Amino acid sequence: MSDLRIDGGRLWDRLEALGEVGAVHGAHGERGCARLALTDADRDGRDLVVGWMRDLGMQVSTDAVGNVVAVHPGTDADLAPVMIGSHIDTVRTGGRFDGNLGVLAGLQVVETLITARVTTRRPVAVAFFTGEEGARFQPDMLGSLVYVGGMALEDALDVRDADGVRLGDDLARIGYAGMTPCPAAAAPHAYVELHIEQGPVLEDEGITIGVVTGVQGISWTALTITGQSAHAGTTPMRLRHDPGYVAAAITTGVRSIATGMGGTQVATVGRCDLHPNLVNVVAATATMTVDLRNTDEALLQEAEARFDTLSTQAAEAEGVTISRRTLARFQPVAFDPGMVDLVGQTATDLGFTTRRMPSGAGHDAQMLARICPTSMIFVPSVDGLSHNIAEYTTPADVTAGADVLLRVVLAKADER
Ligand code: HGY
Ligand code: MN
Ligand code: MN
Repeated sequence: MSDLRIDGGRLWDRLEALGEVGAVHGAHGERGCARLALTDADRDGRDLVVGWMRDLGMQVSTDAVGNVVAVHPGTDADLAPVMIGSHIDTVRTGGRFDGNLGVLAGLQVVETLITARVTTRRPVAVAFFTGEEGARFQPDMLGSLVYVGGMALEDALDVRDADGVRLGDDLARIGYAGMTPCPAAAAPHAYVELHIEQGPVLEDEGITIGVVTGVQGISWTALTITGQSAHAGTTPMRLRHDPGYVAAAITTGVRSIATGMGGTQVATVGRCDLHPNLVNVVAATATMTVDLRNTDEALLQEAEARFDTLSTQAAEAEGVTISRRTLARFQPVAFDPGMVDLVGQTATDLGFTTRRMPSGAGHDAQMLARICPTSMIFVPSVDGLSHNIAEYTTPADVTAGADVLLRVVLAKADER
């Protein structure tokens, strides 16, 4: 089995085909994807991938939060499977590789076993989880969080998007409110996720394989800032209670917190809406989100404390009120050292350059790590871009990552 290799062309063809579902074409030839969770485009992407799973003869099941798990049999059906997974939902300006690569590489692993007539001891499962991005329904990694028992199913089904649409209703609307209970009845033997790095490190250092040691902590907060709507021309500055001004102060303030703390601290205001959002009206309200991350939990808490002080002081000075809602809060996760070593050794044995690194992005793997030995494999992102329709990874790197995935799965799937 040691000479088994992935057919990179078949994998690339599937990436291209799935990339056409919800395709977004940019002015400079960029080819991205818009498949926000539980939209019609997500449904169409799900249908395409489930069709491929069935074409491979896999046993496909959908659970009550829409996670889809397909199983390829091993010689010993009683043993827990080795699971390969990721997600196929995207952000609104997403790429063709984020999440998709991990799921489709899993299908390519199964197809390689079938073509080579190789049967592993353990079953091999390939999964995609609902709403990993968190761009529409928060928190992110919602489906895998429910899968591992970290969020009650009913709470997940009651989550609403910015337009008030209930997750459970849209899940039923697209036909993916499955019968399989959540959380999962049994843990996989191991979980491996292939993913693009989504940052610049591997490309900058000319490294092919990222051996992912864990995932940094994440803190998402939604703010609603309420002031007093007023006429932009007649209201003296000293009489204003302007939530737009406070939103801007918080936006520049959290950036200063991150640059001041340094290290791995990052801060992002990705969403900011004024109401009524008119040229000659001092806003009545501002709604915004703040995304803080750090590989160290204590430092992430420090950043949160500084953000809280900053927003409270800015609001008091302007005479506005602020309400806060936590959208996501996950501590840093360290992957199983044995699994991390296996990824590193496998990639080295295949002749690839490697480096160990934490993940800056959240992933379903950080949830599966709660219930089974887990690791991730990164491949480079061109120009370090992701969550951008210009997202790209070369066919050679896609194939390299999938070859490492294949070998890691073969090693784990023959364990008793
Ligand atoms: O936000 C994240 O890190 C992931 O893309 N959901
Ligand atoms: Mn992803
Ligand atoms: Mn993403």
